[in-house]
Amino acid sequence: MNPATAESPFIRACRRRPVPHTPVWYMRQAGRSLPEYRAVRADVPMLAACATPDLIVEITMQPVRRYGVDAAIFFSDIVVPLKAIGVDLDIKPGVGPVVAAPIRDEAGLAALRPLEADDVPYVTEAVGALAKELGPTPLIGFAGAPFTLASYLIEGGPSKNHDRTKAMMYGEPARWHALMDRLADITLAFLRVQVQAGASAVQLFDSWVGAVGAEDYREFVMPHSSRIFAGLADLDVPRIHFGVGTGELLGLLGEAGADVVGVDWRIPLDEAARRVGPGRALQGNLDPAILLAPWEVAERRALDVLARGRAAEGHIFNLGHGVLPSTDSGQLARLTDLVHRSTTS
Ligand code: CP3
Repeated sequence: MNPATAESPFIRACRRRPVPHTPVWYMRQAGRSLPEYRAVRADVPMLAACATPDLIVEITMQPVRRYGVDAAIFFSDIVVPLKAIGVDLDIKPGVGPVVAAPIRDEAGLAALRPLEADDVPYVTEAVGALAKELGPTPLIGFAGAPFTLASYLIEGGPSKNHDRTKAMMYGEPARWHALMDRLADITLAFLRVQVQAGASAVQLFDSWVGAVGAEDYREFVMPHSSRIFAGLADLDVPRIHFGVGTGELLGLLGEAGADVVGVDWRIPLDEAARRVGPGRALQGNLDPAILLAPWEVAERRALDVLARGRAAEGHIFNLGHGVLPSTDSGQLARLTDLVHRSTTS
């Protein structure tokens, strides 16, 4: 990592070192809330954009230019590595990932071959260009965690209750673990490609893992996510782990091997700090819907997040989930300034 990036507030906070101001970035900071995003995406399907280096670079830079956030997040999607190894899937606007032939048996499993760097040349190219263009500003690489990817693959699309996913997990544990193993290999390879091309931190999104309880997390999920974090240790970049509705899992998300635990809006950060324990930083956790209220309301709640974040050994300000598409970009600009003006002592 270049020395100026290593000393940036974002990387310092991830490593629980003192910072001049609380660093801030937003999940889904590049996306439909930005008019400049809607303009460049107008005629380009999502997965086509994710495979076009110039577009990846432009879209990744948009929120950095507009808000001056402390980190960029690589523009891609959690299903990009699956598409790259030949899984027939698409991202439907307003719906999410849809898989043509859901994976529920041995033949489906066999189709999930390992990912090689050559499968995603556009990722290597775009990350390299971004690392140059961003200068000292860190680039966060990311991937979907095995449970969340398994849910899309088994259900065939977004799911509320993850029934079929859990049916395989409980009813066919050997097949479940074989699937999770393959997904962990693919995810680890995808993250390593990004870091080796110049990403200076990674976030593993286990967005839907809040659907399982702690005991099941330990048995059916954690071994696979842990293997991914362990497989990144030699690269020496901060590892962030995030999921939605994971209040009861926060300690385990850290134990899986994360340096930073992402927290959704349901648990105050001081309570999250108790649950996660020492030795890890926290990221979060303003309710994204707060930004749809008048600024004075959002401001009060953001100051509360900052105050509670002081209970953590390091705090990266973020929302508790992604920016909602209807968010006014003026709100995010004011929020970014507010966080930057805050002092951390
Ligand atoms: O955060 C960023 O700015 C980086 C970009 C990013 C996208 N997807 C771009 C995207 C990231 C980090 C993701 C991760 C992702 N994708 C997750 C984990 C994060 C989370 O939100 O929990 C998940 C579960 C997915 C699957 C997915 N892809 C969903 C649920 C959707 C939304 C569908 C919709 O239209 O509402 C997508 C599509 C998607 N990925 C969009 C963006 C900007 C919207 C597509 C568009 O603009 O046309």
